[in-house]
Amino acid sequence: AEGAAQGPEEAVLREALAEAAAVLRGGGLVAFPTETVYGLGANAWLDEAARRVFAAKGRPADNPLIVHIAEVGDLAGVIDRPQDVPDAARRAMDAFWPGPLTLILPANPRIAPAVRPGMDTVGVRMPAHPVARALIRAAGCPVAAPSANRSGRPSPTTAVDVAEDMRGQIDGIVDGGPCGIGVESTVARIGEEEVVIYRPGGVTPDDLARVTGLPVRVAAGPAAGEAPASPGMKYRHYAPRARVYVWWGDEDRVRVEVARFAAAHGASVGDDGDRRIALIARPGTVPPGWDPAWVWTPAVDGDPGGTPEERTSEERRPADLAGARDGYAAALSRHLYRLLRAFDRQEADVILVEGVPPEGLGLAVMNRLEKAAEGRVYRV
Ligand code: TXA
Ligand code: MG
Repeated sequence: AEGAAQGPEEAVLREALAEAAAVLRGGGLVAFPTETVYGLGANAWLDEAARRVFAAKGRPADNPLIVHIAEVGDLAGVIDRPQDVPDAARRAMDAFWPGPLTLILPANPRIAPAVRPGMDTVGVRMPAHPVARALIRAAGCPVAAPSANRSGRPSPTTAVDVAEDMRGQIDGIVDGGPCGIGVESTVARIGEEEVVIYRPGGVTPDDLARVTGLPVRVAAGPAAGEAPASPGMKYRHYAPRARVYVWWGDEDRVRVEVARFAAAHGASVGDDGDRRIALIARPGTVPPGWDPAWVWTPAVDGDPGGTPEERTSEERRPADLAGARDGYAAALSRHLYRLLRAFDRQEADVILVEGVPPEGLGLAVMNRLEKAAEGRVYRV
């Protein structure tokens, strides 16, 4: 979107970005792609714009928004006492910005109150997606943006998913194709003595320990009746309409559990009277005879993977859509929300998911799956 923008397509893109930036600047709402998920952007200086975000999402008013910036130099304007940012936090910015890391810092009083309801802190992130950064730069203001889904729905990772939830509620969508990471950023507070992760994401606890040299704690949700340190922790999130069950561990045992579940609950999926059971798993975990219309697998050697729709539509299938070049955890991360939505549209009653060990990026994926499955997660 920047630099050598010469051809007609680039000109169209630049014009679209300029238009979207003007809408943002003027207090409108624009959804835009980031490397994690699509965000629903609003001018972070304008309280009224931020309040419209809550209305469009149906978001509880006490859950703060993340403020997005285009350059490290923009940080000083959105936080209080920038000279007091701990060295460890500076090192994390150097290492992981732009990227999927949101840092909780003292808020500059200019940040609209609705962005940080009742809090003296603000979550700040510099996204890596070139379209996101070009848009923020063109808007000329910091951009408050939660994920662009209706509250409680899986976050959107394509423009179609945004439109499904937000049609008629917002002023525009910038389509930048499917998001690469697929789950939301790591939310962390980096103090002088420790790092606390409020939401696991693409930057892992090991990454943060290595760069900060500090002990890293992953905060559990608040105890009953207790105020959470990060309001988002207390809400039920990421849930499709279908019931979700997750197994992870030994591949053979996962396959046995999946087959047993299907046999007990009406395996001939799609038939009238039977429950429609969708499956998201590695190819080796799919029980023989599973209806191919109700399964998604990542691409592996020789097997294109994907859903039936993806397999028959080359056009709708970017080369890496099925995650051929990375491991199952990264493929699951990239596709999970999109698949939960797609199988909901297919009217699945149940979605079975082969999970991953809760390590590295797998920690973020399993954190989202815990919520989507309302705790129905089994290690086998
Ligand atoms: O990847 C992402 O972070 C995406 C993209 C669009 O950047 N955004 C996103 O925003 O996931 P949202 O609003 O869906 O999640 C923000 C999370 C919530 O759990 C919220 O409670 C927490 O960050 N948060 C924001 N500001 C905070 C603050 N000042 N203190 C503690 N937690 C905060
Ligand atoms: Mg969200």
